[in-house]
Amino acid sequence: MAYYVTTPIYYVNGAPHMGHAYSTVAADVLARHMRQRGEDVFFLTGTDEHGEPVALAAEKLGITPRELGDRNAPRFRELAEALEVTNDFFIRTSDEQHIAAVQQVLQRVYDAGHVYSGTYEGWYCPRCADFKTETEILDGNQCPIHMIELTREKEDNYFFRLSTFQEPLERLFEEHPDWILPSERFNEARAFIRGGLTDVSLTRRNLRWGVSVPWDAEHVFYVWFDALLNYRTALSYAREGEDLTERFWPPAVHVLAKDILKFHAVYWPALLMAAGLEVPSRLYIHGYLLMDEHKMSKSLGNVMDPFRIAELYGADALRFYLFREVSFGADGTVSPEGFEARYTSELANEYGNLASRTLAMVARYRDGRLPEGCAAPAEIAAEFDGFVEAVCGRLDLVDISGALDEIWRRVRRLNQWIQDQAPWQMAKDPAQAKQLDAVLYGAIEGIRSVSLMLHPFMPATTSTLLDALGESERTIEAAAFGAPSPAGPIEAIEPLFPRIEAAPA
Ligand code: MSP
Repeated sequence: MAYYVTTPIYYVNGAPHMGHAYSTVAADVLARHMRQRGEDVFFLTGTDEHGEPVALAAEKLGITPRELGDRNAPRFRELAEALEVTNDFFIRTSDEQHIAAVQQVLQRVYDAGHVYSGTYEGWYCPRCADFKTETEILDGNQCPIHMIELTREKEDNYFFRLSTFQEPLERLFEEHPDWILPSERFNEARAFIRGGLTDVSLTRRNLRWGVSVPWDAEHVFYVWFDALLNYRTALSYAREGEDLTERFWPPAVHVLAKDILKFHAVYWPALLMAAGLEVPSRLYIHGYLLMDEHKMSKSLGNVMDPFRIAELYGADALRFYLFREVSFGADGTVSPEGFEARYTSELANEYGNLASRTLAMVARYRDGRLPEGCAAPAEIAAEFDGFVEAVCGRLDLVDISGALDEIWRRVRRLNQWIQDQAPWQMAKDPAQAKQLDAVLYGAIEGIRSVSLMLHPFMPATTSTLLDALGESERTIEAAAFGAPSPAGPIEAIEPLFPRIEAAPA
């Protein structure tokens, strides 16, 4: 089945940071997992280069918005690479093909009668690129997100008849109660719609940096309509000489944070309906990573810089930490010292040690080969009953932290079980040779199974480990406990998560 997953496209007004890394890695975990399941995956990320947020930042730097885009878009690309992200395409909304496709879709919306000209008057936040209603704004006419004073705007605009879609949107929410997850975000969006929709500006006249409006060259499209359409336009030109739209539309899931819920949950489906296109199957709205000031950590200083963490500890450790530390969907704090603590306690001591000592025992006691026809002790096999299905079930609902919990429960159980079995004692007694075979086999099977399910989270370290087990498969079928085992031999490995000494910043 087709599985099309996206991240928001990020504004190029600044450098990428941990918040961007978060959404991008989340989408990558889903993409990699679905590829393991044999789905036909397309994974899109990219940059949003038009509109006021970018134009204003460029002006401050004394460069053109295009120059700013050319400077920063590659840094977002590099972030994806540094984090082992496997996006199939990277869209920039300054791409000519995107611009032409936006004009085409919005012309269709205009031709269908969903657009009219009028005058907008109200409050506007140039950083959000959003028009604010009286009920949204803070005292002193401040933006509730950016805490800056809002501007009073009055200009002739073309309007999109959002109000026409009041009833169709209510029906969409009625008929698809899980099209937005988690449910509190669904409820929030539905309440917004039930509050009554008013028409919204589709174009801006006082701004030059944007996609020009085909029926009136004095206007550019309001950046949000141009940006949202990236999800659609990218498919038409991501592969040279091929149009992937039929194959991948509608998106299986858009991943985003709650700051941009309204645009995705209200404007976006309405716009698609106006253009006669299918709406996405699901939105997943995650929370905020909070990065307060923290005391200095040994190796990372006090900044959660994704590039530096990946360079020092490897991308895998960061990918793991983000979804382990903060329950996906909720807000939560991340910090350098929290990262280091989890690196040591969970990655090095729990998973890393489990792997090294088990592989070392197989190498030492059995010369790297377990006898054919071994069966795992029932109590450990039972721990893995329904394991693969449980992880898949969680990821079907984009519950990334829940999937990781399912996996980690098995990692801990394996550690405890090996501790209880004490194979190092059995090895001293030749009469217990068969029992030792069974325990080692059970441990190896457990490690193989958890590592295959962990592979989308930590692609590099799990590959090192699976290779050492002689496991060349990465599919979900191979992940079942007791699936035909690789032929071996099993090799001892270096620590997967070595101690990192303080390094100069
Ligand atoms: N350009 C728009 C999005 C257009 S999508 C059609 C935009 N860009 S942004 O650069 O501000 O990115 C916002 C998104 O970045 C959030 O929705 C989220 O995915 C991610 N995050 C940025 N900071 C974040 C945190 N501190 N925590 C979690 N996610 C964060 O809005």
